[in-house]
Amino acid sequence: MRKIIIDTDPGIDDAAALTIALNNLELKVEMLSTVAGNVNLDYTTENAKKILDFFEKDTPLAKGNSLPILREYEDASQFHGETGMNGFDFPESSRKLLPKHAAVEIKNRILAGEEKVTLVTIGPLTNVALLLSMYPEVKPKIEEIVIMGGSTIGGNTNTSAEFNIKVDPHAAQMVINSGLPITIFGLRVTTRALLTRTDIEKVKSLGRAGEMLYSLFTHYRGGDLDQAGLMMHDICTICYLLKPEIFKFQETQMEVAVEGPAAGTTVADLAGRYTAAKNVKLAVEIDQKQFRDWVLAEISQLK
Ligand code: BDR
Ligand code: CA
Repeated sequence: MRKIIIDTDPGIDDAAALTIALNNLELKVEMLSTVAGNVNLDYTTENAKKILDFFEKDTPLAKGNSLPILREYEDASQFHGETGMNGFDFPESSRKLLPKHAAVEIKNRILAGEEKVTLVTIGPLTNVALLLSMYPEVKPKIEEIVIMGGSTIGGNTNTSAEFNIKVDPHAAQMVINSGLPITIFGLRVTTRALLTRTDIEKVKSLGRAGEMLYSLFTHYRGGDLDQAGLMMHDICTICYLLKPEIFKFQETQMEVAVEGPAAGTTVADLAGRYTAAKNVKLAVEIDQKQFRDWVLAEISQLK
């Protein structure tokens, strides 16, 4: 069983990624942490609680940063709705949070165990950047950091920047250049990780969890249900942990622009023209049919 910690900003595709990760028996989700991203930190934290309650999981949950390290915060409620998970009527949660900031709680959790832990980040990288700069002693205990973020095909916030990196480019730069093994899923691949209307109609018939996801998906504006499909960006990270053969990768050097109009833009030296140094393993291809079949199979197993 692979031990993972997921840092998230639910978020509808986050909710779907968490649904699969929390219920797959090959993954042990050691804890979740929340960050401001798709919506503000209070909403992302309440949403994470609701998903944990829905599946009756006792996974520890820590609240992280409400603001990016330097930049002003901008949300993505135009895609995910005002609360981040509009569309399904989850009961209010009375779940208790871990007492300290996510960076402290992740550090404690990593250092408490014998085995290495994989960090999965499906929101802005603020918490993980703080973790690595405040507690560099965790680094030898981190197996890999698996990131949804960045783009080498143009942006989804402006012409070049992907949302998770744009929200906190300074944090992204710190994490990507941390020297740890980084696997990164940008828009080149995640915009092709699609579920169509036919797929989500199938999801609806896949039991209680399927109905919940169906309600969220019909309120999600990340893509077009009746054209190409809905983009399941964040699920790519979990799919990689369980079925890496669905993707192809290239080791490359990635840089993050942090200032001016290009802030949040990622550039990858894919042709190796500028340097031989490599700091990330970048996903460059996805088998769309296998991805879709795998997502539907995972959801169909849920209770
Ligand atoms: C990323 O931004 C968010 O809106 C999604 O949840 C995903 O993590 C895609 O750019
Ligand atoms: Ca997300």
